[in-house]
This record gives sequence, C-alpha cells and structure tokens, in this order.
Amino acid sequence: MVDAPSTNDLAIQWFREASPYIKAHRGATMVLCLPDTLMESTLFDNLIPDLTLLSHLGVRLVLGFGLRAQVDAKLQAQQAESRVIDGRRVTDDAALNAILTSAGKMRANFESKLSMGLPNTPMAGARLSVCSGNFVTAQPYGVHDGIDYQHTGTVRQVHSQELRVHLASGNIVLLPPLGYSLTGDIFNLPAEEVCAEAAIALNADKLVFFVDQLPVDVDGQIIREASANTMERLAPKQTGEALMRSLTRAVKASRKGVSRVHLLSLSDPNALLRELFTRDGGGTLITAERWEHLRAATIQDVNGIIKLIEPLQNNGTLAPRTREQLELDIAHFVVCEREGMVIACAALFVDTQAESDIVGEIACVVTHPDYRGQGRAADLIAHLESKARTQNVSALMLFSTRAAHWFIERGYSQKTEDSMPRPKKIDYDKQRNSKVFVKPL
Ligand SMILES: CC(C)(COP(=O)(O)OP(=O)(O)OC[C@H]1O[C@@H](n2cnc3c(N)ncnc32)[C@H](O)[C@@H]1OP(=O)(O)O)[C@@H](O)C(=O)NCCC(=O)NCCS
Repeated sequence: MVDAPSTNDLAIQWFREASPYIKAHRGATMVLCLPDTLMESTLFDNLIPDLTLLSHLGVRLVLGFGLRAQVDAKLQAQQAESRVIDGRRVTDDAALNAILTSAGKMRANFESKLSMGLPNTPMAGARLSVCSGNFVTAQPYGVHDGIDYQHTGTVRQVHSQELRVHLASGNIVLLPPLGYSLTGDIFNLPAEEVCAEAAIALNADKLVFFVDQLPVDVDGQIIREASANTMERLAPKQTGEALMRSLTRAVKASRKGVSRVHLLSLSDPNALLRELFTRDGGGTLITAERWEHLRAATIQDVNGIIKLIEPLQNNGTLAPRTREQLELDIAHFVVCEREGMVIACAALFVDTQAESDIVGEIACVVTHPDYRGQGRAADLIAHLESKARTQNVSALMLFSTRAAHWFIERGYSQKTEDSMPRPKKIDYDKQRNSKVFVKPL
C-alpha cells in the first residue's frame, strides 16, 4: 500500500508546479496597489514576507498605497470636516497635512518591515532596499460642478525612466498617493490612478489591485477572467465604491497595454502568491483583448461609429455628420473592431466620375482615447492609401482642425484652399477653418 503523501511531498509537488511561474516572473515588473484598509489590517504583516519573497525571486516591485482611512482618522481627531465626492477627496490644507503625515509614517513602516527579510527562515535579515521620490508629476484636478478640489490632483506624468533605474538596481519602489507639480505644489492623488499610470508608463507585466470584493457576473458568480471590454460592460452591476475605483483604472491600464491586471480579494491572506504561482489563481484576471481586425464597415457599425465620433463632433474636432449621412456613406468607412466595439474608424471618398487626376478624400479619422498611440490610425490610413492606389487615385486630401502634425508626419503637406485639388462632392467648410492637407500617391 502506498503511503499518503506527507506535507513535505505536497510542498515538493507544489514547488515543481510553481517552477514555470517562478521562471516567468523573474525580471517581470509588477505594480501593486495596496488600499488603505489593507495597511490597517493584519494582512499587511502577512503580505510583507510575500513581497520579500517576490523581490528575492527577481520580481521588480512597485508598491502604491492608499491612505484614506488613516487621513480620515487624523481629521476626525482634529474634528476637521472633509468631503470625498465620487471617490475623490476635496483636499484642503488640513487634509493635505494629514496626508503628508500619514504618507511619511507609512513610508517608515514599509521601510522597517521590508528590512526584516524573512523572519524565522535562513533569509532572516536579507534586507531589501526601498526607495521613494518625486517620480509622479501632477496637475490640479480643478473645479468640478462648482467645487474646488484644491490640493487634489491628477497624474500628469510618471517618470518611468527613473523608476526603471531604481528597479534595475534591485530597489522596491514606493509610490505614495502624492504628486508634485512643475510649480512646486503638492497634490493628493487617488492611489489607484497613481498605480495604473505607473503600470502604463512602465509597460508593466502586471498590475494588481486588492479589493474588498471581487467582481461578479450577471448570475452573481465571481468573474475569474474577462477582457477589458467585458469588464467595462459588467461594471455597472458591481457594488462598492472602492471596487469601482479599481475597476475603472484596471480597464484603462489593460487597454493601454498592461497585459495582465489582477484583482485580488482582501479576505484571502494568500491571494497574491496563489494568483502568481498556481494555475487557477484565486482572483480576477483582466486581460487585454487578444484580437481585433480592420475591416470595411457595414450598416451595423453605424451606432458604434456614432459613439466613437460624437464627442469629437460635439467639441468641434470633427465636422458634424448626421446619422442619415453616415448611413449613406457607410461603404466608404473602414473600422477597427475589438470584441464588438468600434475602437477606430476612417473613411475614403473617391470621385469616381473624374476622368483624370482622380483625387480622394480621407475623412473622419478617429481612434478611441483608450486605444490611442498604438498605431491604429496609422494602420487605417495605410489601408486607405493602398485602397486608393488600386482605384488610380493620384492624390489624397483631407481637412483637419487639430491633427495637423499627425498628418504632416505621415507625408501630407498643407495647401491653401485655392490650390487644393478637390473631388466634386466635397465642400470646404469655411466656418470650421480647417487646414487642408494633400499627399500625392
Ligand atoms: C489623431 C488620431 C486619429 C491618432 O490616432 P492613434 O491611433 O493614436 O494614432 P497612431 O497610434 O497611429 O499615432 C500616434 C502618434 O501620433 C501622435 N498624435 C496623436 N494625436 C496627434 C495630434 N493631434 N497631432 C499630432 N500628433 C498626434 C501621438 O502622440 C503618437 O506619437 P508617438 O507615436 O510619437 O507617440 C487620434 O488622436 C484621434 O482620434 N484624434 C481625434 C480626432 C482627429 O483629430 N482626427 C483627425 C482629423 S480627421
């Protein structure tokens, strides 16, 4: 009879199963967002040895942290009132002071705990270096609905080069929810935003949020894996303001190139290692959609295109187009679609009646803000240019109010209204004062 496996055997078995993950994570950059509630609980003490372990396994760690509970406690002790609206604090002088004191204390807390190594193991005393600094530039959040948010800010830039240098030297980087402006002001920032922007700037392998409750599907079941689009669709079904704060940033980071964003439950003390080193994990994984394709638009895309272009028509970036006009012109459009959502579009109009010097017009070039900067508009234009060549088009023209340099960098040059070639159907809209660009093919 074979003996039941001992605890040691099970550990060895687990170690074998974990080895591919250990290899995969070595050298990987992970940004962890630790909420205020975690810092106050015993989970914080549990998490420290796990962070130490990860760092010794070669994971490059960036730790962002929230301070809301600590700041609330401080303000309460001073009997100072403070307002949090839609997840953002109105940061007056008293609140800023409380944040600065809490951030300093938390930093010292991290530094002391990460200096311990792994107590009661041969790695006791294998201390880790921790660094923090002015890595985040911020700008004021400003006045919204008549409320001046004062020292509350938003992230303007994360200085990823400097962060990379520290990470490559083996330091753990601490990111408090603070940013500094070019004018020398200090701003209170949402920790989730700091972490998401840092993960995007670093092109991190993973971004991890710890949440009170994991997101659920329409049947109330915990979602184990979903694309950013699916998660966005299911977001209104979720409850809890803290979860929503993390979800919004998780979706954005995923769309901006962070390939794996994890939500882990604060109620599971082993959540981090379980997620990273076991096949099934334990949290919710949000992955970037893996497929998308560029194709000719059909009448079914009209709603998607309207959704994409409407904000730009409203703010005057694009010329107005009615639904009827769009339906008539739909055959001229190409779209980039991801999981049923139109995330970029462009149109080509060719004057098919012209006998010589056929000129085409490129119009309505738009990429959804979450998907910009990844070559989609360039792909659409390249596709339309090659389509135009097959139709013997000799030059392409377009009107633009705000993307002049984008087109100039792609071979278009500015022309005056008089000197431009023009397909018959196009009327120059003088009121919009668009610039005209032409590219010979
Ligand atoms: C212009 C636009 C279509 C570019 O979409 P995109 O998919 O991000 O484009 P790509 O990824 O191919 O190119 C990104 C590059 O263009 C630059 N860029 C983006 N908008 C720009 C603008 N208005 N002017 C100059 N450069 C711009 C980006 O900084 C980026 O530069 P980098 O590669 O050096 O980082 C997109 O910003 C958009 O939808 N703008 C609003 C609509 C508009 O103005 N359309 C043009 C008139 S029809």
